[in-house]
Amino acid sequence: MSYNLRNRSLLDLKDFSPRDIRFLLNLAAELKRAKCAGIEHPRLKGKNIALIFEKASTRTRCAFEVAVHDQGGHVTYIDSEGSQLGHKESLKDTARVLGRMYDGIEYRGFHQSVVEDLARFSCVPVWNGLTDEAHPTQVLADLLTMEEFGERPLRELSFCYLGDARFNMGCSLLIGGTQMGMDVRIAAPTNLQPPVELVAQMRELARTTGARITIETDPRIAVAGADFLDTDVWVSMGEPEAVWKERIDQLLPYQVTTALMQATGKPHTRFMHCLPAFHNLETEIGRQVYERFGLAEIEVTDEVFESEASIVFTQAENRMHTIKAVLVATLA
Ligand code: CP
Ligand code: NVA
Repeated sequence: MSYNLRNRSLLDLKDFSPRDIRFLLNLAAELKRAKCAGIEHPRLKGKNIALIFEKASTRTRCAFEVAVHDQGGHVTYIDSEGSQLGHKESLKDTARVLGRMYDGIEYRGFHQSVVEDLARFSCVPVWNGLTDEAHPTQVLADLLTMEEFGERPLRELSFCYLGDARFNMGCSLLIGGTQMGMDVRIAAPTNLQPPVELVAQMRELARTTGARITIETDPRIAVAGADFLDTDVWVSMGEPEAVWKERIDQLLPYQVTTALMQATGKPHTRFMHCLPAFHNLETEIGRQVYERFGLAEIEVTDEVFESEASIVFTQAENRMHTIKAVLVATLA
């Protein structure tokens, strides 16, 4: 491997070039094929990896654990309750301790500044497993999934992200799509759109990558011609329950319905979601929202979620292949 990303941290996709991302996507596809064929070569033997989760996770934690295990390494899971982090020990001190024992650290938490400090003080590669501002490993999986289903180069594909676009998923998809030269559409009310500085930065980057960026308040205009509709929960981890009412009032027009899927005008538009999703009454929060607001499906209808167009579980599987690529590229 002549080109590599050895010892790099993945804190935000902005820190990676389009060439770096292309390298990671190709490596992920290669690792996926090798695993399927049963010919995976372990490249993380003897590597110890710490997984810090200050917020809950199913996919990200499992993806890291399985990826490391497949590659012959070891993990330690650290949550905010069972460790000294934040209660008796500062992040700066914990970072310096973990950096002496581990080859790399995954971190999921609140502020982006925390994951940046962790990288600075631990002196080992740190991978952002989600902060309020960014979810880079999710977007790598989304790009791989779009490439697999789109059957054309990413620069010839379009996606529309609908909903709360000012938080981690909206911002990271805007960055990832722009870097790969895609037709990127964001459909959200003005106050839930990505920060203007980020949009300006991405419009500048688009001049070199060829990306087309549309930020739109009307969901039907935004989705016209889109190959993929992508959404996320309307209230993210760490946000107060009190925002539900306002979000529902604002985001109901952006709910992904069969009518909105048809509004793309394309017969093969696919539905994507980073998950977990509120599409029925089988979750505690879903039931609470139904009791309070009478809404039985939130960001996506059950019909769309369960339809042939939905590729959310391949997207979830691809978390593991892309995270494995990040680990191999930065550590092996
Ligand atoms: N998409 C995602 O990050 O899922 P988890 O919260 O389950 O890790
Ligand atoms: N925006 C969501 C993403 C979950 C994967 C959250 O931060 O909770």
